[in-house]
Amino acid sequence: MNSYDITLLPGDGIGPEVTQSVHAVMEVLQQRFPVRFNIDIKAVGGEAIDKFGEPLPQETIDSCLNSDAVFLGAVGGPKWENKGVYESPEWGLLKLRETLKVFSNIRPLSIYEDLNQFSPLKNDLIQGVEMVIVRELTGGIYFGNKHRSDLYAVDQCTYTENEIIRVTKVACELAMKRKRRLVSVDKANVLETSKLWREVVTRYVTEAFPQIHLEHQLIDSCAMHLVSNPRQFDVILTENMFGDILSDISGALSGSLGMLPSSSIGHKYALFEPVHGSAPNIKGKGIANPYASLLSLEMMLRWLGESKIADHLARAIKQAIQDKCFSKDLDKNSHFSTTDITLSVTSNILSI
Ligand code: IPM
Ligand code: MN
Repeated sequence: MNSYDITLLPGDGIGPEVTQSVHAVMEVLQQRFPVRFNIDIKAVGGEAIDKFGEPLPQETIDSCLNSDAVFLGAVGGPKWENKGVYESPEWGLLKLRETLKVFSNIRPLSIYEDLNQFSPLKNDLIQGVEMVIVRELTGGIYFGNKHRSDLYAVDQCTYTENEIIRVTKVACELAMKRKRRLVSVDKANVLETSKLWREVVTRYVTEAFPQIHLEHQLIDSCAMHLVSNPRQFDVILTENMFGDILSDISGALSGSLGMLPSSSIGHKYALFEPVHGSAPNIKGKGIANPYASLLSLEMMLRWLGESKIADHLARAIKQAIQDKCFSKDLDKNSHFSTTDITLSVTSNILSI
């Protein structure tokens, strides 16, 4: 029987609620399949600041480094908003990504027919959309030098050739399994880092993956294309901050950001998180959408090599959606709680 050490980091806001859903589903998968998850729950973000005085305590780092995969709910909230960048809950997450060296963040958007009614786009625009965003995750403006005085602030944006190549390789390998169409997004008409990005991507793809059709789009134009003609996209490759912004747009297209999962992959470690944030406004109300987290669990299972279990979970989730188990962010008239949706998925896991 395969056995995995998994660290769960619930974090802040609705993080604990969606992590609880993942935990419950893992328990049921262990009943249904010959697999064992040894789960360690650790603090991160605001919760860790309150308990340990820092957003990423050493014992959390140690648990993550010693596990086969890590799941994180969400971090941040109004309680910790006035802190400096390096003392903030968000820094706990950024430092975790840096420590695990998970440089490529994969955010796949799948459209479920039953959710099209909730998309802000007209049906004919959203139908058949199937794209994935590959976001560089450990470089760029998030991690450059920062400086702050009363009336002056700096965030430096840097990229090296190597940082660009390794994430481009991930995007190309994905594209090869899909429609072989890659759109690289930058701001090469203004930014030096983007000019380098475009040069390196062009050279690498042409040399290493000549079968891939490569196109470059500027970030502003790509944002427009995402809402006016999203079907044109297969794989989008972009730098850290542009990827953050574009993935929220793509999430909304599916009906709610609450549907978008992610995996952050490096050479050794992997971190799985829903793309949505901590949503402090609905914290503790029991109405958080657990689908993005459960779909992130599916990505985790695939990454661990458990594709049969991942396929089964995918079917169980799809069935729950077909059964109209919609959370309130999708359908404001819905009465399904996070627990109801979780129960629907777990009972599907046992019955299908
Ligand atoms: C995300 C989030 C994070 C990011 C925040 C919480 C630091 O918005 O994963 O998209 O900006 O990367
Ligand atoms: Mn984001």
